[in-house]
Order: sequence, then structure tokens, then C-alpha cells
Amino acid sequence: MTGRLQGKTAIVTGAASGFGRGIAAKFAAEGANIIIADLSSEAGEAAAKELNGVFSRTDVTDPKAWEDVLQLAVSKFGGLDIVVNNAGATYANKPTEEITEKDFDLVMNVNVKGVYHSTNVLVPYFLKEKRPGCFIQVASTAGTRPRPKLTWYNASKAAVINASKTMAVEYGPQQIRFNCVSPVVGSTGMTHLFIGMPDTEENRKNFVSTIPIGRPSTPADVANACCYLASDEAAFITGVNLEVDGGRCV
Ligand SMILES: NC(=O)c1ccc[n+]([C@@H]2O[C@H](COP(=O)([O-])OP(=O)(O)OC[C@H]3O[C@@H](n4cnc5c(N)ncnc54)[C@H](O)[C@@H]3O)[C@@H](O)[C@H]2O)c1
Repeated sequence: MTGRLQGKTAIVTGAASGFGRGIAAKFAAEGANIIIADLSSEAGEAAAKELNGVFSRTDVTDPKAWEDVLQLAVSKFGGLDIVVNNAGATYANKPTEEITEKDFDLVMNVNVKGVYHSTNVLVPYFLKEKRPGCFIQVASTAGTRPRPKLTWYNASKAAVINASKTMAVEYGPQQIRFNCVSPVVGSTGMTHLFIGMPDTEENRKNFVSTIPIGRPSTPADVANACCYLASDEAAFITGVNLEVDGGRCV
């Protein structure tokens, strides 16, 4: 049996942990060559070893790092097909008037400018090679159904959803697809910051109480949605924001 992503090459940012690691694991299981692009060398190397992928130490806010990771995809696997912009950052949940300029810059640099650099470097590659491309941005339900005290994180995800829809329209004729996946709260390295306290089942209760299916999202939930969007089954799907949220956004 061949996998749903057999022979495709994917860069997954932030794949050393959390949702990104789940996405990389699913993509590898479905036959893709995976490049784990993350700031964290130790966790990234470990993930690459376990998933039979390649690790590239990448800071998504650095355009040179994007040039390097593209070069790696071309030299190691002969080209690139899929980019999952999953790396993200946030500050701890707090009243909006207390958010510092440093907090603001962090979310905008990683969550928005990281996607900007990815497209500035990779879209010219897809155009030049006349190769269909597939961008998937891990946004968040925060982008359309915001919770209080996360104003600029929420706004950064809204920006990514809007930018992806714009690029879907702009590059549709060249067969470059742009979609978002928007998870509801999960249990990852970032969750304690969203809920503003240690990530325990008890402390997550407030957030989870607004999810009709009654549980947080998992890396597997997010990975399954990304796999569909990355596969040829989604060849006609572009510009969507697919909520992986157990009904939170209804
Ligand atoms: N955890 C949640 O509840 C939740 C909900 C909705 C959306 N999200 C989004 O999911 C995505 C993945 O986050 P997660 O929850 O798995 O958290 P996580 O902390 O487990 O993983 C984030 C990964 O991104 C990497 N990273 C951070 N900054 C980077 C940079 N500048 N360059 C490269 N890598 C960088 C980290 O090293 C880490 O491995 C984020 O975009 C986040 O906003 C998370």
C-alpha cells in the first residue's frame, strides 16, 4: 500500500514538539520525506531520529534560514512539495493593557513574519519550477473566535488566516494552494501560557467547557487535518480555514 503523501517532501516548522511533531509523524507514516525545522536542536534531532526525517535548525523569523531549508529539500530530496508553517509563539495570558512591546513583537515576528518569510522564499521556488505547492498554516480558533487576554496573539492568527486566503486567490492559477488549520486548545508546550496557569486537566476545564465534543485537541487531530490538506485528495481545496475544534467555533 502506498501512503497518502508518498514521495512528497514536506518542511514542518516547530516539529520538535507538540502539534508539529504529530504532523511530522503522520506525514512520515504516509510516505512523505520530512524536514523538521525547529529552533530546538536537541528535541528536533530526537524527533528526526525517531521519525526517520531530517532535522534543520531553523528560526522561522530569519529569511536566510528559509533559504537554507529550501536548499536542503532540493539537495536531499530533489525538491519541495509541502510547507507546514506550524511554529508559533505566545506570551502568558494577561490583561491587554499589560502586554509589552516585546510580547507584541514576539507573536508578530514568529506567527506572522515567519509565514511572510516562508512565502517570500518559497513561492518564487514553486513559480520558477512550475511545481504545484501546498502551504498549510497552523493558525488557531483564536483567530476567529478569540478569548480575552490574548489580544495580540489572537490578532496574529487572524492575520495569518487572512493572508492565506489572499494568497490562495492570488496563486490559485499557478496551482499553489494555501490553507489554514485552526486547532482549539490542546495540551502542548504552549498551553500553560494560553490558560495562564500550569497545564493540568483541572486548569484546562474552563477552556474545554466551551468545546461541544468535550475534550482538548490532540496532535493526531491536527495532523489528520493537515494530512488531508497536503494530499492530492485536497487538490481542489484552497483558501479554507479548517477548524479542528470539536465544534468550538459553531
Ligand atoms: N497548544 C494549543 O492549545 C494551540 C491551540 C491552537 C493553535 N496552536 C498553535 O499550534 C502551533 C504549534 O504549537 P504547539 O501548541 O504545538 O506548541 P509547542 O510549544 O509544543 O511547539 C512549538 C514549537 O515551535 C518551535 N518554535 C518556536 N519558535 C520558533 C521559531 N522562531 N523558529 C522555529 N521554531 C520555533 C518550538 O521550539 C517548539 O518546538 C503554534 O502555531 C500555536 O500557536 C496551539
